[in-house]
Amino acid sequence: MIHKRKGNTSDTKSEPANTAEPTKPSPKSSQQSVISSLFAAVFWAIVLFFGASYLITESWTWGYRGKWTNIHTYWPREQLVFTEQELRKYDGSNPNLPIYLAIDGDVYDVTEGRGWYSHGASYGHFAGRDAARAYVTGCFKDHLTHDLRGLSEAQIKGVEHWKKFYANHHTYYKVGRVLHDPIDPNTPIPPPCKKSVPQKPSSGQ
Ligand code: HEM
Repeated sequence: MIHKRKGNTSDTKSEPANTAEPTKPSPKSSQQSVISSLFAAVFWAIVLFFGASYLITESWTWGYRGKWTNIHTYWPREQLVFTEQELRKYDGSNPNLPIYLAIDGDVYDVTEGRGWYSHGASYGHFAGRDAARAYVTGCFKDHLTHDLRGLSEAQIKGVEHWKKFYANHHTYYKVGRVLHDPIDPNTPIPPPCKKSVPQKPSSGQ
């Protein structure tokens, strides 16, 4: 019995000769390949940048730690407004609450620094309040106030330094502002205290 082969007609009909010109890449596909090469170049540049950093400095960011390595910079949260009384709750005495401090009105979450700011720690007196004055006078008992009246120009610069310290920190982040009662100009300026802590030698203030 002879079986006919199905579908193969090649031996009976010859294929039409391919006389068409070689197809040129369309402008769209060459644009796509430029874009993908660019992406690849950027990708490898990033890998090289961070890889070299880790090899040389043992840090992924060339030793930099600050605002730009703080996740909260890229994940900003809604800013809150506190009264002085509300802020007091976050002074580190309740382990179930975050620790907040304020400096010249700006409130920061410093829970990551609980070793410094929890109740009884070295800088615990800064927690739960705005003690901007004490940062530059070193009067950790008598100057726990936001009252900056009578400070020298250098001391005001010192306050700015500490404000930047918190604003550019690699873990702390701003949570809002504290509303202060207006300072009565007739009240006396806080007098210098007997026992002040000297400025840290390396702080450059
Ligand atoms: C007016 C005086 C001072 C103020 C207001 C002050 C305040 C602070 C604050 C806010 C911190 C940062 C804590 C954190 O990381 O959140 C700190 C850290 C530190 N302070 Fe003080 N401080 C004073 C004086 C001193 C003095 C006199 C010394 C030692 C002689 C000292 C030693 C340190 C050390 C070793 C650290 C941690 C390392 C560092 O961040 O540089 N401080 N201080």
